[in-house]
Amino acid sequence: MNNEEGKIIHWIEGEDCCNRDWEAAYNRFESREEERSKFRKRLRAMGVHTLPKGICVADLFCGRGSNLDVLGELGFQNVVGVDLSPSLLCQYKGPAKLFVGDCRDMKLADRSVDLVIVQGGLHHLPKLPEDLELCLSEINRILAPDGLVLFVEPALTLFLRIVHFCCGVKLLRKMYARLDALAVMIGHEKEGYFNWLHNLDSLRGIASERFDPLLDKTSFGKWYFLGRKR
Ligand SMILES: C[S@@+](CC[C@H](N)C(=O)[O-])C[C@H]1O[C@@H](n2cnc3c(N)ncnc32)[C@H](O)[C@@H]1O
Repeated sequence: MNNEEGKIIHWIEGEDCCNRDWEAAYNRFESREEERSKFRKRLRAMGVHTLPKGICVADLFCGRGSNLDVLGELGFQNVVGVDLSPSLLCQYKGPAKLFVGDCRDMKLADRSVDLVIVQGGLHHLPKLPEDLELCLSEINRILAPDGLVLFVEPALTLFLRIVHFCCGVKLLRKMYARLDALAVMIGHEKEGYFNWLHNLDSLRGIASERFDPLLDKTSFGKWYFLGRKR
């Protein structure tokens, strides 16, 4: 099966996530294979490959579905993806079930999911902390007892501060296409992105109140959180 637009279930009409410049920069920043390779390493580092393959996994804010590909490679057979953007979901060609929807208000059944994954999604929520509270409540609702959450989101570590500094140097942007792509993406999502980064400590606190942290650390510009439903 593949997911042409007709096979995607719409909870809502949906909206394109980004303008053309952002999307072009996103495609320049990383190829799909580079993105899959990054996700493969992360999922292994966080022990996802050791979980039983029959569990239900929901990849939220799944975009074009590179992480869904990796979950498939790891042998998970019961996988769903949710994203606001039908045009990004259309790019996924695997067997996972896809839903166009808002992760603050999902139509998945209560206690139907064993593992929720969000990578690079929460920081796109426009209103913080309110939207994060809504989204985490929804995640809590759909998670089965003892269910797990895994979040990977930006964090303002020294590494990211250096990257931001480099984004401001024209010569470096000319020399490194990836840096230029990143600078363009950040430029388009500046307000939400920096709001997220500057409030991350309190946002982490909200996640830890909702889920028992098994891992909660920052490293090289990322916040890694693995938690269990309380
Ligand atoms: C930077 S992309 C990350 C995609 C994917 N997780 C990855 O790492 O490749 C952020 C995604 O969040 C989606 N998004 C933003 N707000 C959303 C919401 N409220 N509900 C569902 N998806 C949302 C966008 O459409 C976009 O695909």
